[in-house]
Order: sequence, then C-alpha cells, then structure tokens
Amino acid sequence: MTRVAVIVNGQSREADAEPRLLLADFLRHELGLTGTHVGCEHGVCGACTVLVDGEPVRSCLMFAVQADGKTIETVEGLADGDKLNHLQRQMREQHGVQCGYCTAGVLMSMTALLRETPSPSEPQVREALSAHLCRCTGYQNIVNAVLAASS
Ligand code: FES
Ligand code: FES
Repeated sequence: MTRVAVIVNGQSREADAEPRLLLADFLRHELGLTGTHVGCEHGVCGACTVLVDGEPVRSCLMFAVQADGKTIETVEGLADGDKLNHLQRQMREQHGVQCGYCTAGVLMSMTALLRETPSPSEPQVREALSAHLCRCTGYQNIVNAVLAASS
C-alpha cells in the first residue's frame, strides 16, 4: 500500500492505495466521490474524465499513485451546494442530459474547454466533445448547452 495525498475540489484528502488501483476507483471507493463514472475502463468513452492540475484526464487510465500531490477536480466540485453552476444549468435547460451516465465526464471536459476558450466556436465544442461517447442525446443538445454557457 502507498499513501496517496491529493487536493480534490479544494480539500486535502489522502488514503492508501495499491499500486495497481486506478484513479477512478480511488476517487469512488477510497474518497467516496461517486460522481465520477466508469464506463469502458479502457480510455474510450470519456465517462471517467476528471481534471488533474487543470487538464482533462481519463481517470481509468491513470493510477492513483500517479496522482499523488496533484490537484484534482471532479463533478462534485462544480456546484456550490445545491446551486448548479452556469454550465450545469445550461445542460439542464438545453436538455443536454438524459440518462446522465456520460454527463460528469462531459462536464469536466467542457469546463476545461471554457476556461481555455471562453467563447468557443461550434467546431471547437464538437472537437472537445469528440472525447466522449453519449448514447442518449445525439450530442446536439450538449453542444447547444456549452455554446449557451459560453455566451
Ligand atoms: Fe475511462 Fe471509459 S471509463 S474512458
Ligand atoms: Fe446517457 Fe449521455 S446522457 S450516455
């Protein structure tokens, strides 16, 4: 076991991890942050995306021990208590969420996009969104939500 210390959503957290433990499982099972979803477990679907030092990372492709000392943002850090942030509200209002399985990962990637490019073009949104599989929405409403959140 290795002690892994991270800052998650602004809070210092630490727990033991076996060297093979994935960051996704560390977040969910050791830190109780179950908002991060696991879909394919091999880097394809994007459901497990979190921000590590501000960059979108597939947490099923990173070991927890590799995250030691890093700053992590998960979907739990977006809202202020019960108050959804602007992007989350737009996802709801534009019907960018259906089953919600992909949503946490999408939100984290789109958060990174909007920080880097506050007014992205539709092709830029679609390019960032291409890192995610969504089986429900057909993507258009997610694109609409991100564009609405950027304006
Ligand atoms: Fe990580 Fe699909 S669960 S990319
Ligand atoms: Fe169901 Fe995207 S909302 S997979």
